[in-house]
This record gives sequence, C-alpha cells and structure tokens, in this order.
Amino acid sequence: MVAGDLWKVRVKRISYEAENINSYELALPDGGDLAPFTAGSHIDLHLQNGMVRSYSLVNDQNERHRYVIAVNKDASSRGGSSFVHDTIKTGDIIAISAPRNNFALCEDAEHSVLVAGGIGITPLMSMIRRLETLARPWKLFYAARTRKAAAFLDDLAAIKPDAHLDVHLDFDDERAGQTFDLAAIVANVPAAAHLYCCGPLPMLEAFERATAGRPAGQVHVEYFQARETPALDGGFEVRLARSNRTIAIEPGKTILDTVLDAGVSANFSCSEGVCGTCETRVIDGIPDHRDQFLSPEERAANKSIMICCSGSKSRTLVLDL
Ligand code: FES
Repeated sequence: MVAGDLWKVRVKRISYEAENINSYELALPDGGDLAPFTAGSHIDLHLQNGMVRSYSLVNDQNERHRYVIAVNKDASSRGGSSFVHDTIKTGDIIAISAPRNNFALCEDAEHSVLVAGGIGITPLMSMIRRLETLARPWKLFYAARTRKAAAFLDDLAAIKPDAHLDVHLDFDDERAGQTFDLAAIVANVPAAAHLYCCGPLPMLEAFERATAGRPAGQVHVEYFQARETPALDGGFEVRLARSNRTIAIEPGKTILDTVLDAGVSANFSCSEGVCGTCETRVIDGIPDHRDQFLSPEERAANKSIMICCSGSKSRTLVLDL
C-alpha cells in the first residue's frame, strides 16, 4: 500500500465478541467523519510489525463516525491476528487504508441468502444491517464450532427479534451429523435470489459447487485465504513498462517480492491473492493466475495479474508498473 493512502485512526474500544474473537472500534483521533463505505467492504490494517491485514467492516454503512472490525485469533494465522489480539490496546493509533469493496451487496435483490462460517460472519453483518435498513428480506445460515465461538449472536437477535425464522444456526458440538446441506438450501431458494458466502475453504468450495447452476452475477463469495499455492518457480523475466526496467524472477520469489526488492513501489495487502490490491495491468505475456480475485473470464482475458501470487507462462511478462 502506498503510504500516502493511509489514515491514522484511534482504537476507541475493544470488545469481546466470542471465544478468540474481539471487535475493534476505530475512529479519527479528533472525531469527524470517516470515508463512506458500503456493506461488504473491508479495510487494511497496517500493523506496527510491518504486516498488512484486511478485515471486513461489521457496522452499519450509515455510521460515518467509526469503523468496526472483528478479528479472530486464529492458531493457523500467519501472525496478523495474533499481533492484533496481543498488541493493540484501546487508545492506540494505527494506520489503515480507505475501505474497498470486493464483496458488494445487490441492494435491489428480492431475496438475499447469506452463508457464513465462523469469522466469515463479519462482512455479512454489515450486509444484514443494510438489508434491514432497506427492508429487504434475507436469510442467514451461520455455522460455527460452538455457540461460544460464534460472534454477533446478540447483535443478530437485536436486529431481528424473530430471528429464528430467518437465522439458521449450526454448531459442530450440538449435532451429530453433517453441517448445512448447501445443495438443499440453494435448491429451495427462488431463482432471482442473490447468494453470498464467506467462511473457511471447504465451505466456500461446497457453496460454489451448490451454486454452479445459478447465474454468476447472483453468486458472491469472499475468500479469506488462498486456495492455490503461489507461483514460486521463477525462471521468467518481468519488464516494468513505466519504470523502464527488466527484472528476473528467481525461484522462491513472487513477482511482488522481486519488484519490491528492486525498489519499485507496488500496492499490496493480503499477499495471498484474495484482496485484489496488487492487481496490475498486463501489457504483454501470459500470466499463470493463482489468485481467488479474478473471475474465470478475467483470468482468460489475461489483461491483469495479481503479482503477489501469480507467475508467468511466457518467458517474459510486460506489466504496467
Ligand atoms: S495483495 Fe491481495 S491479491 Fe495481491
């Protein structure tokens, strides 16, 4: 992320939301309005240890005085969530990016069906708040390991006192058999419905299988983690058209690593192909796409590449950098 794009915010409140999940309320140090956002958006936290991590906004998009994120201290994380839980305190000033939305809500859908697994509930919370404001019908299918590990159950009950009709909960330790049957859920949804899913990889893959027959424009997924391994074989060169330089990509390095090592500025955040921040225009050559951000059509067009994880199928890639 380019430094000029960062804002300083104060951590005004840290709240326990569930086992290993805290929420963090962020506001401008002197008060005032933050940049507007839409349901499904995320911000990047630029942590004091140099890591950059993306977190979805869970609050109502009508709130301009604060952003609220929730962070799961995940034992398998790459260190970002542990740092947030163990280091960030109320009153701290941290740097964030402006909100971006890769998981936008279709506001005029007649039906919205939301599927969450664990911390995947976060972007769906802002969507639910928005759908309530718009008085649009929605249903939520929310799975978690245990009731204690499920964040925002109180918020859901407050948003919808008759929640049992539209909020379907599933906890691993309260049942004997399988989790939600996503194929059956999708089969019972009206053809015009928009379907959303955010959760762990197996849930996302099951959701994509279940929705394969639905129009692509009505199916929305948000990945938190990479599905494919990054391209680290090297053995090709990248011509940086704007910088007028050519750099060799060595085995073990991504294009992004090599570009940064060469002192060339490039935007990035998640470094694993899910957020889209490092998207770079391809002027010539054939990328080896490894991201979860581009659609199959965008991949086939080879007009852009996520340089944090993708490589090259051609000897040379020419990039707009
Ligand atoms: S930095 Fe997130 S997709 Fe590349």
